[in-house]
Amino acid sequence: MGNLKKSIFKLLLENRREAKEYQYTVPSPDSYPYQWLWDSCFHAIILTHLNIGDAKKEILSLLSKQFDNGLIPHMIYWDKESPTDFPVIEWGKADTSTITQPPMIAYAVWRIYQKDHDRSFLKEVYPRLYHFYRYLLTERDPHEKHLIGIMNPDESGEDNSPRFDIPLNLPPKHSFKENYQKRLNLVAQHIECKFDAPFCMRNFFWVKDVPINAIMVKNLMSLSGIAKKLGYLEDAEFFTKEAKNISLAMKKLMLENDLFWSTFGESYQKIKAKTWAIFAPLFAKILTQKGAKKLVEEHLLNPQEFWTKYPIPTVSLDESSFDPKGFWRGPVWIAINWFIYKGLLNYGFKDVADTIKKSSISLLEKSGFREYFNPLTGEGLGAKNFTWGGLVLDMR
Ligand code: GLC
Repeated sequence: MGNLKKSIFKLLLENRREAKEYQYTVPSPDSYPYQWLWDSCFHAIILTHLNIGDAKKEILSLLSKQFDNGLIPHMIYWDKESPTDFPVIEWGKADTSTITQPPMIAYAVWRIYQKDHDRSFLKEVYPRLYHFYRYLLTERDPHEKHLIGIMNPDESGEDNSPRFDIPLNLPPKHSFKENYQKRLNLVAQHIECKFDAPFCMRNFFWVKDVPINAIMVKNLMSLSGIAKKLGYLEDAEFFTKEAKNISLAMKKLMLENDLFWSTFGESYQKIKAKTWAIFAPLFAKILTQKGAKKLVEEHLLNPQEFWTKYPIPTVSLDESSFDPKGFWRGPVWIAINWFIYKGLLNYGFKDVADTIKKSSISLLEKSGFREYFNPLTGEGLGAKNFTWGGLVLDMR
């Protein structure tokens, strides 16, 4: 890991930017020259292994643009003039976007605390975390079903995933352009309804996604740990209870024949597109040991589904939407491997987890720090000098 660790440190330093008193990391200088929410959480996790002070700065700059209602935007432009080779959506606001992304912040903060036990940092960020998670628990769950809704596919972090084909009324095979147009139409509708989440979700995109809810469960447990450390015992109890409520609701509304499916619409119709999302509940330890074993043996280790030459493809090979080069429609993303790796360790599947770690490292060695990789050949695709590869440092 020696040389790899050095090259990750170099990449993180090269992608570091400053804006006034803030410091943040761009996911890729050419393609993604701004600050993104879940990316910054990944950066902070990577930085816990490199420079804890920088990990804290990454979080502080991410929290600096929180909206009055508690939402933390998924993009902060800092320097909007930065050239980019990736299409940028106009979200209707000058300095940030108006949607959010998977809420990994409490988990990242908790990991920082575990490294240096700096209570003053927890104290500094807690009110803003509280506000954000309360926003998600209320505004994103207006019917009190205990499932968090997203307004737009981009809020999942998997912009073009086939999980959103049915809600967007797209066939399993379609072009990037068609998908982009559908998402732009949604943004136009949202600008009109002023990004009022309950209204926008009910009228235009009513989706409860599996990964974001599993991520919420894990993060509420981290937030509960933070509250407890700070002596806010009622808050700690409240967040633990909310985490339990979400995992129960996931079992009630998403689970069928041992698999969790994202849902769509008022009737919670299951969207049966088999993607890596079926493994996301492992990360939050929502499954039983028996359920986890079955999931791993029947699906993860199945060469017809997810056990490719370079695991883990984001979409199962037997899905008609599977495309080994398609954006969120098949390739390997190292952050997804990281979620699955952590999930496997929760259940003691150390050997499978180690294989995923080795394969992730071999992808970086073979193809460099690319955004995503062809799961059949290992070819590097998408953005270059992409930071997420650094998460292999945290596969331990
Ligand atoms: C793409 C990805 C999203 C990520 C962003 C910046 O939009 O889909 O998950 O946050 O790039 O890396």
